[in-house]
This record gives sequence, structure tokens and C-alpha cells, in this order.
Amino acid sequence: MIEKNRFNKNIGQIAREISWEEFSAIEEKDKVVFLNNSKTNNPFHVLFSQQFNRKSLDLLCKVADKARLIHKDRDKGRKFLKSLLFGTYALNFFSQPSSRTFLSFETAQEILGMGTKDIRDPSTSSEAKGESMEDTIRTFSSYVDLVVMRHPEGKAVEKGIWVLNNSDRRIPIINGGSGPDQHPTQALLDIYTIYKSFDKKVDNKIIVMVGDLLRGRTVRSLSYFMKNYKGIKLIFVAPSHLRMKKDIKDFLKRHKISYQEESNFKKAIPLADVIYMTRIQDEWDKGKGKQKGHKPVSDKFRFKAEYLNLMKKKSIIMHPLPKRDEIDVELDYCGDPRVIYWRQERNGMWARVALIAAIFQKEKDILKYRI
Ligand code: CP
Repeated sequence: MIEKNRFNKNIGQIAREISWEEFSAIEEKDKVVFLNNSKTNNPFHVLFSQQFNRKSLDLLCKVADKARLIHKDRDKGRKFLKSLLFGTYALNFFSQPSSRTFLSFETAQEILGMGTKDIRDPSTSSEAKGESMEDTIRTFSSYVDLVVMRHPEGKAVEKGIWVLNNSDRRIPIINGGSGPDQHPTQALLDIYTIYKSFDKKVDNKIIVMVGDLLRGRTVRSLSYFMKNYKGIKLIFVAPSHLRMKKDIKDFLKRHKISYQEESNFKKAIPLADVIYMTRIQDEWDKGKGKQKGHKPVSDKFRFKAEYLNLMKKKSIIMHPLPKRDEIDVELDYCGDPRVIYWRQERNGMWARVALIAAIFQKEKDILKYRI
């Protein structure tokens, strides 16, 4: 383990000396200095939700709002946004399935003028010839200025960060939802959606999370974000074998964030400002040979159309998507403004525009732009 005073000396130097074993063993709160920009404390690499603070989250929401406003001007506005990162390139390296994260990152990069490249099938990368993850990432950094990565191995993004912190081309890497633990940019777009839905106020909300809380990385990342907000209460509604893990509950206790587990979904609905539905992630069962089609979700964890009548007037129903049958299909196009998940996925593109702009220190240009 690295001693505290070694951190304070020169992070760049330590990043070059530190072994992978040492780096991966550092506690998350101490790892933040290896991830964030030392001047702004905004993320440079994006690995987990704990590296975002209230200031950076508020900033990113503001930048996202301003960027989408600028983009409405199809001529000057769009040209201005494109000028910000013109001549740079991004690689979207997604070796697990993705629709929203992949497309919203790619579009966000193009809005900011980046050239985009992708690898979606690992059999087409030299990983298939036995190249190590270290060499693969280092090779990517020879050609592009940003890597967004979704990978089945939880430590893959972290290893990439360690490799690039120790290289002459220290380009940023963003975790696009890797391994079972975290999906920080999904949590960012979720916060942006709450911010937009409640007149820029995220504090003092009751958030009911429903479904597969054990394997859903979005609910984990969103729970971590709650340390940045006041008066939050989380209510977890999950099948007994898919309940929220102890590490998140311990984190919530440590940060004095109120939470409770509730078995009766209907009882929680009238209390909620936000209902956050999730899918049962049975793809993680595949390895055990159990997967044969998708079992319908139990009625106890399904949002039925009639439940809209139980919701507060000013509340929202969110879903990170993809979804299956955990929300009645009638809700999809019912026109009720509380059904927010389609807007939520579009918000993802703007949250990612803001994040990439901040990584490249272009956020002030966006905020200062006169419309
Ligand atoms: N929410 C989300 O990560 O969706 P995709 O898997 O389609 O990227």
C-alpha cells in the first residue's frame, strides 16, 4: 500500500513508478488523485462514481444544458461545438453488447467534432492473437485521443488507466460500463435527468430502485452519487436473491444516507419522487447453462399501467434501458410526462457531451458561448 505522504509528493511520478498490484490495491477514495485532473478536480479518466463531487456534477449538468441549447442553432452553434475538439479522435471499444451507451458516446464525440472509430467485436482486435490488455490499450493510445471502454472484465478499464498513466501518451479512458460493478456515465445521465425533471434540484428526493439490484451496475453507481446530495432517501425493492449488496449498504451507512428495503412495491410508489426500474439481468446466469429464453418478471417487481394513479403528480419513472416486461408496454407512448425513460436516454448524449468537454477542459468555452 502506498503511504499518504507519497501521494502528496508528485502524483505523476508515482503513477509512473507504481506497480499494477499496488495500484489496484489502493482504496477507491485514495485512487481519485490518479483519475481526476489535479487542477480542476474534474474527472480526467472515468472509472467509478466516487470520483465525482457535487461541484463537478453541478458543472456537468450546466454544461449539458448549455451544449444542447447551443446545438439548436444548426449553423453557428453546431459549428462552434464541432470546433472544440476538431482534429481529435475517439475510439469506442465495446466488447459487450450496447445500444445506448455506444451510440450516445459516438454521437456526443461527433457533436464535439471528434473523429470516431470503434471496435465492437474483440475477435477483430489483436487481443484474439493473445495480445495482453496492457499492449492493446497502449496501442489504442498511439492513434486516438480518448478511449471509451465496455468490457466483461471488471478490472479492464482500471488496468488501461494504470497503463496510460505510466506512458508518454496519457490519454483519458472512460468506463462505459465494464464488469459487474459500475456504470458511472449512466449514473451521470441519471442525475442529469433528475436535475432536469425537478427544476435543477436533486436534493431531498425519495428514490425507489426496483428489480435486479444485485447485478445492476447502474443502481450501484447511482447510489454512490447520493453522497453528493442532501436529504436523499433510497428505497430498495428487489427479489430476495437479487437484493442490493452489502458494500453499497455499508457505503450508505458511512455517508449517513437513509435507505430501507421494502418488499411491497405498491406501498413505496406513492412515496417516490423517482421510481428507477431495472431489468432482471439473467445474462449473468448464462455461464451456468441456465439461460433458455427470458423468464417473465414477477408481478411484484413490475410497473403496471394502473400504478401511474398511485404516483405523485410531480414524480418520474426512470429506467436505464434496455427493458423487457418490467414496465407495462402501455406506458411507452401514453404521453404521461412522468414517463421519462425515452428522454433519459437522450439526456445521456448531452451528459456525455458535457463529460467529454470537461475532460478536455472545454467546459468554460461552452458556458461562455453567447447564444
Ligand atoms: N443503459 C445502457 O447501458 O444501455 P446499453 O447497454 O444499450 O448501452
